Amino acid sequence: MSLDNLRVAIVGAGPAGIYAGNLLANAVEEAGGSVSIDLLESLPAPYGLIRYGVAPDHPRIKGIVNSLHEMLDSGRIRFLGNIEVGRDVSIEELQERYHAVILATGAIRDAALDIPGIDKAGSYGAADFVAWFDGHPDVPRTWPLDAQQVAVIGNGNVALDVARVLAKLPEDLRSTEVPDNVLEGLEGSAVTDVHVFGRRGPADIKFTPIELRELGEVRGVDIVLDDADFEGVDPAAAPNNQMKIMLRTLNSWRGRELTGAPRRLHLHFWHAPAEVLGDERVEGMRFERTRVEGDRVVGTGAFVDYPLQAVYRAVGYYGTRVEGAPFDAARGVIPNVEGRVDGVPGLYATGWIKRGPVGLIGHTKSDAMETVEHLVEDAAAGSLTAPAADDVVALLDERDVEYTTWQGWLALDAHERTLGETHRHQRERVKVVPREEQVEISRADALARS
Ligand SMILES: Cc1cc2nc3c(=O)[nH]c(=O)nc-3n(C[C@H](O)[C@H](O)[C@H](O)COP(=O)(O)OP(=O)(O)OC[C@H]3O[C@@H](n4cnc5c(N)ncnc54)[C@H](O)[C@@H]3O)c2cc1C
Ligand SMILES: NC(=O)c1ccc[n+]([C@@H]2O[C@H](COP(=O)([O-])OP(=O)(O)OC[C@H]3O[C@@H](n4cnc5c(N)ncnc54)[C@H](OP(=O)(O)O)[C@@H]3O)[C@@H](O)[C@H]2O)c1
Repeated sequence: MSLDNLRVAIVGAGPAGIYAGNLLANAVEEAGGSVSIDLLESLPAPYGLIRYGVAPDHPRIKGIVNSLHEMLDSGRIRFLGNIEVGRDVSIEELQERYHAVILATGAIRDAALDIPGIDKAGSYGAADFVAWFDGHPDVPRTWPLDAQQVAVIGNGNVALDVARVLAKLPEDLRSTEVPDNVLEGLEGSAVTDVHVFGRRGPADIKFTPIELRELGEVRGVDIVLDDADFEGVDPAAAPNNQMKIMLRTLNSWRGRELTGAPRRLHLHFWHAPAEVLGDERVEGMRFERTRVEGDRVVGTGAFVDYPLQAVYRAVGYYGTRVEGAPFDAARGVIPNVEGRVDGVPGLYATGWIKRGPVGLIGHTKSDAMETVEHLVEDAAAGSLTAPAADDVVALLDERDVEYTTWQGWLALDAHERTLGETHRHQRERVKVVPREEQVEISRADALARS
């Protein structure tokens, strides 16, 4: 088959799905073919974890958002939001309507931390907290912030985001996109001490240099380190430049005098979580101290307890399963070989759901490139089945699915920016949080025309 009149559905409008759509349009155009691409998204708005994961005080990724916006604005990809694939339309129904379906459903939930007491009141998943402070429509609007001493488990960038947002003075978040209900919640927070625990050593952190350095610049927060954690840790022996920089950053904080700041951020290493303590509620946490043995980190058999009133586990995300698609529950991914889903011709995967919840936005581009290359190869080889059914929109209309469109997103985007301009703290945007309200604003134009 040639690459003429190819029809492809992409599920998930996070960066992986958008890059895949754009790369596919480029590849087919270059080959002199034609393709129509539908991008189906369960939320009313595009951008996945960029909108509902990236911290509100991190506007650095604006350039990436602008370029993703241009890709969707080019008219080469049709955005259809507020449609949950697996519920509103099945994978099978998509396969009847497209030559190929690419799954780019990413991750929105926390990986489990299987230790006693983890389900006690006051123990939270970082992903849930992130979804709250980023105004995700499907999570509660309030968050309990009555704990003075809080633990964050994990040494990745999500742990840093959570620790920073918990420790930061709320007035320093006022000019960000943080929703008003979140700002109010943070203003009432009782927190004085945020303890971040890594199960391995300072040279095993999964932070990135800019994110770590930023922690030392947070106003109103003293950083506290334990010198004993750094015995035998030599920045000069670090395996790469990034680690060298981060170890130097950590070293520069050692021995810093406490300034009497209202909040403290403690970074503990060599602490493996063992148990959450307390009757009904979190009252503390027990850790097993660890050390290096050969090339492994092992438990020492010595335990230490910390009094705490809340615990946030930031031990990684877990991929979003799609009803009707194969799923490897142990790894939280769709089983695939370089993007071709195992055993299902015409079905592909890309982004975090393809390779697990690790990596920056930019990595989803190279990922999409590999998946798209295989899809184009398969199309050119004639191994994709031609669609037999109508446009998916007819099916959505038949089912009264209130889908949103790119025009709808432009309307919601403009609305949020206007709210920002007139906000008492003058923000770039104020996010509309409730799903129904997002849908109503997005669809107002379509309804007026019908
Ligand atoms: C808290 C946090 C902060 C981060 N901050 C940064 C940062 O500052 N800089 C950086 O470079 N990277 C950052 N990252 C990493 C970055 O967010 C990821 O690399 C990237 O978002 C992964 O892209 P994705 O498209 O695979 O998944 P996602 O961004 O998760 O997008 C998946 C999309 O699929 C949709 N979807 C899921 N299931 C369905 C379904 N059944 N039907 C329809 N749609 C569905 C979801 O709603 C979502 O919109 C951060 C990650 C997290 C968790
Ligand atoms: N600003 C940004 O650029 C930004 C912000 C947020 C996220 N991100 C990116 O998004 C991706 C996901 O981040 P993430 O923080 O969720 O994942 P991550 O980078 O994989 O970090 C997970 C952390 O959890 C620890 N962990 C896992 N299981 C554990 C257990 N049972 N007990 C104790 N600790 C455990 C890991 O320790 P081990 O190393 O010992 O396994 C690691 O320190 C990363 O690539 C990250 O860089 C980027």
